[in-house]
Amino acid sequence: MRKPFIAGNWKMNTDSHGAVDLAKAIAAESVDALSDNKITIAVCPPSVYLSAVASALTGSCVGLGAQNVYSEEKGAFTGEVSVSMLKDVGCTYTLIGHSERRHIFGETNEMVNKKVHAAISGGLLPVLCVGELLEEREAGSTEEVVKTQIIEGLRGVDAAKMQAVTLAYEPVWAIGTGLTATPEQAQDVHAFIRSILTDLYDASLAEEIRIQYGGSAKASNAAELLGKKDVDGLLVGGASLKAVDFMGIIEAAL
Ligand code: PGA
Repeated sequence: MRKPFIAGNWKMNTDSHGAVDLAKAIAAESVDALSDNKITIAVCPPSVYLSAVASALTGSCVGLGAQNVYSEEKGAFTGEVSVSMLKDVGCTYTLIGHSERRHIFGETNEMVNKKVHAAISGGLLPVLCVGELLEEREAGSTEEVVKTQIIEGLRGVDAAKMQAVTLAYEPVWAIGTGLTATPEQAQDVHAFIRSILTDLYDASLAEEIRIQYGGSAKASNAAELLGKKDVDGLLVGGASLKAVDFMGIIEAAL
């Protein structure tokens, strides 16, 4: 049984007080949800607020994640943050290859792959994000795009290391647009992703890996999406910025 994994991607939002308040509210309101270990919850604040949010989450089982990481350990990489730095401030997870990283900042599958390796070997759990653009979906190439992103993103990651990995399917056309994929569209791609994992590894590993859906997920559509067999959690942007909205999603997952 895969445990649902709900993660909030705050993107470049909040300020120092707002981030701490939001983290505290989520920590307080998710005590019951987390008490019987039936769900994984994490928040991914902007990197400058990770330390403050880590303090705000002290004593809570809400996990802390970064939105991005660099693949090198240290050195002359102005503006970048390493795996060990993220661990140092209390992160357990890091998003890797979010569509905004790919499409605004030009991250390639090769860069994504290096980050995945760096995260796993440094002890951070990567959430590897994949998903097609609208024109790719309209051209009928969703599967090809997602397959390439997964094969290249996971290149060299063996079965033992895969235990650390969560995948997130986020159709780019659904991110921040209010255009959620239908539960059927999400399920089709999630099942396809699981078939790729079966080919790359084996069926039992493919059954264990959690695949989140992301793209305009909210309390009102969470239950339907999570009701699909291969949808194991949600990566939530806009609706993770208010505790009440995020908690509505968590309730739908229980
Ligand atoms: P959204 O973002 O929920 O605001 O669509 C999801 C994401 O980008 O992770």
